[in-house]
Amino acid sequence: MNIVRTIADLRQQVALWRTDGHSIGLVPTMGALHKGHLSLVDEISAHTSKIIVSIFVNPTQFGENEDLDAYPRQEAEDCKKLDATAASLVFAPSVSEMYGTGHKTRVTLDGISEILEGASRPGHFDGVATIVSKLLLQSLPDVAIFGEKDYQQLAVIRQIVRDLNIPVKILGGTLVREDDGLAYSSRNAYLNPTERKIAGHFNRILSKLVQAATTSSDLRTLETQASEALLKAGFTAVDYVQVVDRVSLETLDSLSATARVVAVARLGTIRLLDNMEIGI
Ligand code: PAJ
Repeated sequence: MNIVRTIADLRQQVALWRTDGHSIGLVPTMGALHKGHLSLVDEISAHTSKIIVSIFVNPTQFGENEDLDAYPRQEAEDCKKLDATAASLVFAPSVSEMYGTGHKTRVTLDGISEILEGASRPGHFDGVATIVSKLLLQSLPDVAIFGEKDYQQLAVIRQIVRDLNIPVKILGGTLVREDDGLAYSSRNAYLNPTERKIAGHFNRILSKLVQAATTSSDLRTLETQASEALLKAGFTAVDYVQVVDRVSLETLDSLSATARVVAVARLGTIRLLDNMEIGI
């Protein structure tokens, strides 16, 4: 797999592809690639002839007590996995390449970045918005894809692209799950065997809420029941289970259109995210 580490080299490669008439896709990741990431590469390959996969563990989206240092870094393995995909190039810059001395700019959003994950992880979405804006401006792709696994992140990115008039089409990639329904996540590697078993209940409990929501007028009770079921299954805490508008992510009192349930449950210090569509 061809790897570039500087913005200048990335731009040079993109310029050559442009001269040859190629269309360009970007798949931003933090590495430790799994089937969820690889399916994004697969999905975007239907839209563009060249695909850049960025691998960068972005320090500005981690809080002070979060797992920045422990976050898995396995570039050689990642590149091997990408060899078997349609990816054309890996962009793996250093922290100093992305945030040089004197870097002061931060992209920040009102509203959507302050609720749910934004409330649990203050500053997180500013870090995501900043790095994604930089990656988009460095590579200027035609299309970029982000997984529905991080549903709020996808909504945040759609918002910044709209607000900053970045000329790129954003695609939402299908959420890929393991056999027992647990969403693939790089952080699943932190789970011990007992926790991994408990984690399998997450999908089942949310599916139950989704089914009940279509016929219930009391969404708050369904959210409470799901939280209680998660705790009973062995999760140590539930940050939130909320039925929200699929675009604004604001809490809904009743369903009048397709909605989303978003949830975060904890196993010790490990936070697991999931979400599902509620069709009506
Ligand atoms: P990371 O967690 O590595 O995820 C990279 C991309 O893979 C994101 O768009 C995420 O939503 C998607 N993804 C992760 N698990 C998935 C799954 N099970 N199914 C489908 N897609 C999945 O998200 C980030 O990195 C960072 O915040 C980033 C956008 C790269 C900015 O630093």
